[in-house]
Amino acid sequence: MDDGGLIKPKVVMTRRILEPGPSIISQKCDLYVREERKPPTKQELIELVKDADGLLCLLSDKIDRDVYDACGKLRVVSTYSVGFDHIDVEEATKRGVYVCYTPGVLTQATADQAWTLLMAAARRLAEADRYVREGKWDIGWAPDLLLGYDVYGATIGIIGIGRIGQAVAERAKGFNMKVLYYDTVRREDLERQMGIEYCELESLLERSDFVSLHIPRTKDTIGLINEDNLKKMKPTAVLVNTSRGGIVDEKALFKALSNGWIFAAGLDVFENEPTTSDNPLLKLPNIVVAPHIASATHQARSKMAEVAAMNLVNVLEGKDPLFLVNQDVKKVKPLDKVKMI
Ligand code: DGY
Repeated sequence: MDDGGLIKPKVVMTRRILEPGPSIISQKCDLYVREERKPPTKQELIELVKDADGLLCLLSDKIDRDVYDACGKLRVVSTYSVGFDHIDVEEATKRGVYVCYTPGVLTQATADQAWTLLMAAARRLAEADRYVREGKWDIGWAPDLLLGYDVYGATIGIIGIGRIGQAVAERAKGFNMKVLYYDTVRREDLERQMGIEYCELESLLERSDFVSLHIPRTKDTIGLINEDNLKKMKPTAVLVNTSRGGIVDEKALFKALSNGWIFAAGLDVFENEPTTSDNPLLKLPNIVVAPHIASATHQARSKMAEVAAMNLVNVLEGKDPLFLVNQDVKKVKPLDKVKMI
């Protein structure tokens, strides 16, 4: 197709994302897709991106000062995720690099997964599945076989009442649950609209039958769920984490689950990803795990692809992206100076 002789911006995608992501970008840019499924090494990432104008990355690509140093032309980093703790945003802003993300479109999928883990942990589903498959079910129906805890009518404590926390709360209402929440900013509007109750972290941990985490990983949230806080929870409680690894201290969680400080846990995320089979947590019966797949539905991942691609193309066209992390970057480099298409 005749492009009028214009040089197209060079864009690198560190892994192939779902359509329509690649199509949206390749209509306007010279797109290179790295086809491997494992994350690139730092050196490989730098080699890939050194001449790029735009980068579409995943949450497992660490975008730090070294990457910006080596990639002097970079104008936009668009992450295929709502979380952006893998990107040094402050450094990007200083250098006039736009950082974009994909909030909203994975809210419902992630809330569904929090509930999947919550129910599975409460009713020991993974353990029950193994029990049947491994031929251990030799007693027929039994009064005390694999007893769990009621979800209906229980109390759920939601840590972080952003989009996903709210979506989890909405579902809890269908289970006739009391909903407590803790966040750094109190949301009296939501308290009125949704009938939820604010409480301090300590009291939330003490009162909840289920605790679900919906906060980003920041210097303030790393290790938030530590030994002290796990000890405050009920011995019958279930902890669910679909947000980020590292917010729950895994060593402390191991102690909590093996010593009966809490009943069970459901984790979609880990301190180090991918976690390996020698992670002591995986030896415990009372934990149900998933490989960071909370947003992994066809619908959510396609929509994320569309948003991530549009974010990137918009910036290179000198237009506002759909979702910009670093608003201040516009003061450093206004969009008309970023425009290439
Ligand atoms: C995100 O987007 O940050 C999730 O962790 C994965 O979709």
